[in-house]
Amino acid sequence: MIRSNSGAEMNNNIPVCEPLLGGREREYVLDALDSGWISSSGKYIAAFERAFASYIGVKHGIAVANGTVALHLALTALGIKKGDEVIIPDFTMIASAFAVCYTGAKPVFVDAEARTWNIDPSKIEEKVTTKTKAIMAVHIYGHPCEMNSILEISKKHDLKVIEDAAEVHGAEYLGKKCGNLGDIAGFSFFANKIATTGEGGMVVTNDDELAEKCRYFRNLCFPIKGERVHLHNDIGFNYRISNLHAAIGLAQVQKIDFYVARRRENNRFYREYLSEIPGITFQQELAGSKNVYWMNAIVIDRDAFGTSRNELKVKLKKEGIDTRYFFCGMHRQPSLVKYGCQRKGNYEVADWLAENGLYLPSGSGLSESEIERISGIIIKSAGR
Ligand SMILES: Cc1ncc(COP(=O)(O)O)c(C=O)c1O
Repeated sequence: MIRSNSGAEMNNNIPVCEPLLGGREREYVLDALDSGWISSSGKYIAAFERAFASYIGVKHGIAVANGTVALHLALTALGIKKGDEVIIPDFTMIASAFAVCYTGAKPVFVDAEARTWNIDPSKIEEKVTTKTKAIMAVHIYGHPCEMNSILEISKKHDLKVIEDAAEVHGAEYLGKKCGNLGDIAGFSFFANKIATTGEGGMVVTNDDELAEKCRYFRNLCFPIKGERVHLHNDIGFNYRISNLHAAIGLAQVQKIDFYVARRRENNRFYREYLSEIPGITFQQELAGSKNVYWMNAIVIDRDAFGTSRNELKVKLKKEGIDTRYFFCGMHRQPSLVKYGCQRKGNYEVADWLAENGLYLPSGSGLSESEIERISGIIIKSAGR
């Protein structure tokens, strides 16, 4: 097993999330190196795409350089452009919004719902206008969005549904995997994700035409078939992934069930150790959903817990425990306000999450004894 910061382990520090490279990564990367295929051709790219698409249960996987460009590519394939609006959750990572901005369209924000922290479907319809072309369902921290309601609204208003599945490898909604619930989806394989390629991403879809468009735009709009002539009918992007990254990805997908099981187990341990402590809220797992707990995310109620989220972060840091604040709502992002997004509105759940949320260490290589130690410090911080 390769852990990226075995030094940190030795000095008792626990990072918030580090990759676990527990399979054939080294063998495959060395094989790719030896073969000489180190850029965007080579057997590992197609093998990685096939393996991951099959895991998600979709027809096509188009591997790319990262999760942000996977979303941009998916939106481009859907034909989203300047003058359009795309509904996104207010509580998300900035890449969801930026990907919409890259197309020239405007992201329109909807507040989160308090149990899963995902987009609140009951607040979507009031944001639909004649310019709305799509809804981006971002599955936050491992929990699927309430897709039936989102799909119903999209059908009623003739909207496309794109899933931002960056954080939910293996999560399920009514027995189907996230990434197989809308028209098209984007995954991230950044180093902190449940399966990683270091840097990397993938678009997945069941739609042949969308898949072909993604392959076309991914590679500077070189023609997909026939002679490679240097005439380009559209403005494309270089969003290709390298064979070396895909080699890591294939090895990760081969062990993905193990990584998902480890994330779920981590969450079970945290809940057990912290079950008696008031003022800590975990993300819920709703009936019919499988949460993969990409992050063990908690919300602190200062009065009930006895210490604020910020103070808790400092106390954990002093003991070598790394944590992160939650995302800050999109309506508060200066970049998006400058871009012309609407900042007014009621985003009280997103604000509550941003002010009180903390991710605890969550990597797949975390041990029960590490979780026990972290929980002990949390309990002590609360003065109990
Ligand atoms: C919800 C969400 N969308 C998109 C991304 C972007 O992925 P990447 O960092 O691979 O570009 C992330 C990354 O963490 C994310 O959490």
